[in-house]
Amino acid sequence: MTEVSQPAGVSTQDAAGKLTGSATAVLRCIEERCRATYSVDESLVVCARCGGLLDAELHDIAEPARRSLRSLWAERRKSLDPADTSGVWRFRELLPIPAGAPLVTLREGNTPLYEAPRAAQYAGLDQIWLKHQGANPTGSFKDTGMTVAVTHAVRQGARALACASTGNTAASLAAYAARAGVRAVILVPHGQVSSAKLAQSLDYGASVLELEGNFDAAMRVVRELAEDGSLYLVNSVNPMRVEGQKTVAIELMEQMGWRVPDFVVVPGGNLGNISALGKGFIEMRRWGLIERLPQFAVIQAEGASPFARLLDARRRDANAVLDPVADPRTLATAIRIGAPVSWKRGLRVLAETGGVSITVSEREIADAKAMLGRDGIGCEPASATTIAGIRKLAADGRIRKSETVVAVLTGHLLKDVDYTARYHTGRLTEPEGAAPGEAKPIAGAFANPPARVPATRAGILDYLRRSAPDSFPK
Ligand code: F0G
Repeated sequence: MTEVSQPAGVSTQDAAGKLTGSATAVLRCIEERCRATYSVDESLVVCARCGGLLDAELHDIAEPARRSLRSLWAERRKSLDPADTSGVWRFRELLPIPAGAPLVTLREGNTPLYEAPRAAQYAGLDQIWLKHQGANPTGSFKDTGMTVAVTHAVRQGARALACASTGNTAASLAAYAARAGVRAVILVPHGQVSSAKLAQSLDYGASVLELEGNFDAAMRVVRELAEDGSLYLVNSVNPMRVEGQKTVAIELMEQMGWRVPDFVVVPGGNLGNISALGKGFIEMRRWGLIERLPQFAVIQAEGASPFARLLDARRRDANAVLDPVADPRTLATAIRIGAPVSWKRGLRVLAETGGVSITVSEREIADAKAMLGRDGIGCEPASATTIAGIRKLAADGRIRKSETVVAVLTGHLLKDVDYTARYHTGRLTEPEGAAPGEAKPIAGAFANPPARVPATRAGILDYLRRSAPDSFPK
């Protein structure tokens, strides 16, 4: 049965100016030449007039209600109501879903913020914080947006929800659609999605369609399918996904005692995550919850880096537009994307925060991931681009040693075990493209292969003494 909760109250503020448990908002087209507005209750995903992306634009929250937000959210941590135990719906004053709407929630959010001393040393910084979104119910950051998108879709009466995906959006949609009792239709590029992610979608009962084509082709076709309304699109073009995902920024600020970090670093694929985190920080500043914005860094894999290239191009031509990568390649399959749909939103965030986008190599990603492992914190390859990117930015002097840096880890280690096993056993190779048999190996600096030893006490003790004599008591 659908998880239903009734948040108290009726709208952002009542007549006496008290907060009441949801935001009122309009949808506005982000295109300067259009700026059309729509009611949030229309089940629009893109602008009906020009096809542009839509923002949920929240109405003002006046004083003194603004000032009570922090304490209200903190107070809810003690509550057992499903809406309060979700790390997304706990912040519902900033979500444009009417109070009292039945929520489709799996108690997402509430993810840990870790210190990572070894990764920090590796990157050349005093300290790095990791916001681990892999601790969400389906193991990736997608759940924080999906709970809002599916809740909204169900309210609109949608019966079949669809997405194109490199695997994580799919797993998340499949789970939330199952909770809501509606159909999930998932389009994935055949052979380019990790088996763990695929298995999740199958287990949650989704209709999984493996397409002959890459993610960008799947994205194109799912947008066509959604145009006539027969399928409701929940990719991050959908403004409700962005609304849910922006709460990660609020939760992060709570965990940091409302002290704004100098840098927030994310992997860049379809660019929904940077759009959402940016919106979260910008809104917090608007409501007086924080005084300044962090700088953002979006890290892409070299072989799938249209956004980093766009930022480069913009230095020469302020009007440069995204030039898609026709055949993107990276072993970090989650971000194997050549035509990110949210590039305009992403660009807006970087413009407003003075942010950067850079690329990292396959080898840099693989070693950074293993280094995170040495801190006892696993993640999937795409997430490790953050540490590789921070290391590069620190080496270039873009991030100073003492600055406060948060890396957002987007997915759980177990999302792609095959990659990790290959790294540690010396079988990881550069993305395909080489002739069969000529694949270039990636020699991992921190490979930790298993040892084959005899099943005897003496044999094992002998191995332990020989392999690391210093850490073995006599
Ligand atoms: N990290 C992981 C683990 C992802 O799954 C994705 C995107 C990203 C980073 C990039 O985030 O797209 O918001 O810039 N995965 C999508 C999917 C494309 O279908 O699961 P983004």
